[in-house]
Amino acid sequence: MPAKSQIHIAAYFTPRNIEEMHLKDKNVVVIDVLRASTTIAVALRNGAKEIIPVGDIESVVKISGSLFGNVTLRAGERNGRMIEGFNLGNSPKEFTEEIVKGKSIILMTTNGTAAMAKGRHAKNHVIAGFVNLSVVVRFLRDLKSDFIIICAGSENSFCIEDAVCAGKIINHLGKEMDAQLVLDDAGRAAAALDKNFGKDILKLLGTSQHGAYLSEIGFADDLKVCSELDSVRVLPKLSGSIIRAHREVHPRGA
Ligand code: MLT
Repeated sequence: MPAKSQIHIAAYFTPRNIEEMHLKDKNVVVIDVLRASTTIAVALRNGAKEIIPVGDIESVVKISGSLFGNVTLRAGERNGRMIEGFNLGNSPKEFTEEIVKGKSIILMTTNGTAAMAKGRHAKNHVIAGFVNLSVVVRFLRDLKSDFIIICAGSENSFCIEDAVCAGKIINHLGKEMDAQLVLDDAGRAAAALDKNFGKDILKLLGTSQHGAYLSEIGFADDLKVCSELDSVRVLPKLSGSIIRAHREVHPRGA
């Protein structure tokens, strides 16, 4: 019997030690369950044309200066709340079809978009949360190639919800792929965390540090949106510095 092919998966619990050039030409998955990944998936599902993730306020000012006001929205948060002078915060519930359809959105969040911006030289770079988990798994299954998972974490510290989401991607992929998944230690830990905490995602989010904080400042409803497994069938894919909804190309008859 021919040996199974191998897929190597490296996981990072925070983006702290990752240099932009380390991601060049690699396949990358970035996770920020609460809330940037979820917000991006929801915005694209609701018809946003594109999202431009940025890591700092200077980039927001620079980019929005060269775009037309009526088709561009500035969105983002600091400490979970909308930034003064922006059109939107970072709650997925704000990104309704009525507000985002056809719009370009410049998005700046504390951890999520900063992590995403690091991967602009990646070969394939997709954004994952619980809401689009199966879409991401299907993309990775079809890619049949090594990849890196980066959890956005919080202020360069570990966040359990991102780690469990990473583990769930690994565990689902393990069931769907014929290849042997070769995990680094962080990947193995993430897979084990999913087995322990991944059964009740809403409970996981409610008891996480950032989830508790979001509830405290009035965003408890966001936890429900972010916990709904496979509720958003969109694959956000970053190409250059822009995230768009990736259209799946199905082989004939699939
Ligand atoms: C982040 O990037 O740190 C988060 O998405 C924060 C949030 O809005 O909950």
